Formats: sequence, C-alpha cells, structure tokens
Amino acid sequence: MKKITIAIDGFSSCGKSTMAKDLAKEIGYIYVDTGAMYRSVTLYALRHNLFNADGTIREQELQAQMKDIDISFRLNKETGRPDTYLNGENVESDIRTMEVSSHVSPIATLAFVRKALVEQQQRMGAEKGIVMDGRDIGTVVFPDAELKIFVTASAEVRAQRRYDELKAKGMEADYSEILKNVQERDYIDSHRETSPLRKAEDALELDNSHLTIAEQKQWLYEQYHKLTS
Ligand code: DC
Repeated sequence: MKKITIAIDGFSSCGKSTMAKDLAKEIGYIYVDTGAMYRSVTLYALRHNLFNADGTIREQELQAQMKDIDISFRLNKETGRPDTYLNGENVESDIRTMEVSSHVSPIATLAFVRKALVEQQQRMGAEKGIVMDGRDIGTVVFPDAELKIFVTASAEVRAQRRYDELKAKGMEADYSEILKNVQERDYIDSHRETSPLRKAEDALELDNSHLTIAEQKQWLYEQYHKLTS
C-alpha cells in the first residue's frame, strides 16, 4: 500500500501524541514526537546551566553546543512505543517534568534550535510512512503531507488531562499551576516569530474537548483510511 506522511499539530496536552502513537502502531508507521525533541534540548540546557537566573537563555553558548546534542528514539519493547534518548541516555520521563515544561517554550522560539530540529525531522520522514506530531509539522516540516490534522481542546480540559497523567505516574501535580503553564505555552507557541502554531490551510480540524480517546482514534483512523484505500 502507498505510504503517506501524516502531520498532526495542535496545542499542548490536547491528546495529539496518544492518537498519533496509536495510529502509527496500528498501521505500521514510524512515530515521531517532535515536542520530545524540544524538551530534550531544554533538559540539556538545564543540565548545562544554560539558563540565567532570570529565565533567559545563554543563546550563544547553546548555539555552540547544538552539535553536542544528539536526540534519537528507540522502541521500548515493554510499552511498544518509542522512548526519547539524549546523548545515549533514556530521558523519556526526565523531559516530562514541570521544570522542563516551564522552560521549553523559550527554547522552542530560538531560530537556530528550530532549524536544527526541523532538518532532523525532515530526514526522519524522507521515506514517508511516518506520523509526526508537533506545532509546525503541517506548515513547515512537511507542507506537502498528504494528511494534516489540527487538534484543539479547551485549556481547562487540557490542564486536567496533564494533571491526571502526572498523578497516574505518581508525580507531583498542582492543577492551577498546570493550567497557568498550559495558557502561557499557548500564548508563546502561537505568538512567536519563527513558525508560530497555526492551522495549515489544508488541515482538518478536530476539537476533542468532548471526545473519548477511543472516539478520537477512530476518527483519525477513518481519515487515514479514506486517503489510502
Ligand atoms: O507537545 P509538547 O508539549 O511536548 O511540546 C513541548 C514544547 O515544544 C511546546 O511548548 C511547544 C514546542 N514545540 C514546538 O515549538 N514545535 C514542535 N514541532 C513541537 C513542540
């Protein structure tokens, strides 16, 4: 069967990754979580003291060190999903902490970071047969993707989902802090100069505020099926 490129964009914590991962598994495609790549650069910057006390970034130092940052994905046999590796270390849970979440948006505004990660993403998808999720996949990374989805949900619904996710993993969580973080990231993600979050003209929009995960997955599978059957 003809392989296509599937681009899934949308706001943070709106369930993009869950539906993208499950679709990829079901149809035998590669899945790439590009948010995990921006989070990995952020973790690297935190570990190497590249943030000043006021939260600004030591940009020149980070730019010089970009060549030392190797991000890859390896299949976790237990979960059946890819884990994120930073310079050979599995950082899948370290990149999901509140500390990384609250530092990632300014990292994702840096043009040199975006350029390096977009180039790597384009190489990963060169052979098609890929489901990639992020903020600029349908607009910048794969403007020619055959299937583009733009996912939305209210900030409150998304904060509740992230809260439940952290709690389920036994991690610390405070709903109002999470909601504030979700709203701040929405603002920065959609107002930044380089590749702001926006719906591609030819993307299908899905508001999943009131859909179950099973309903979303079914909807996505139907869109894929319509295009490839
Ligand atoms: O999807 P996420 O919450 O894990 O993404 C983390 C951050 O990375 C988010 O604040 C926006 C940014 N991001 C981006 O700018 N471009 C992408 N393609 C993916 C994520």
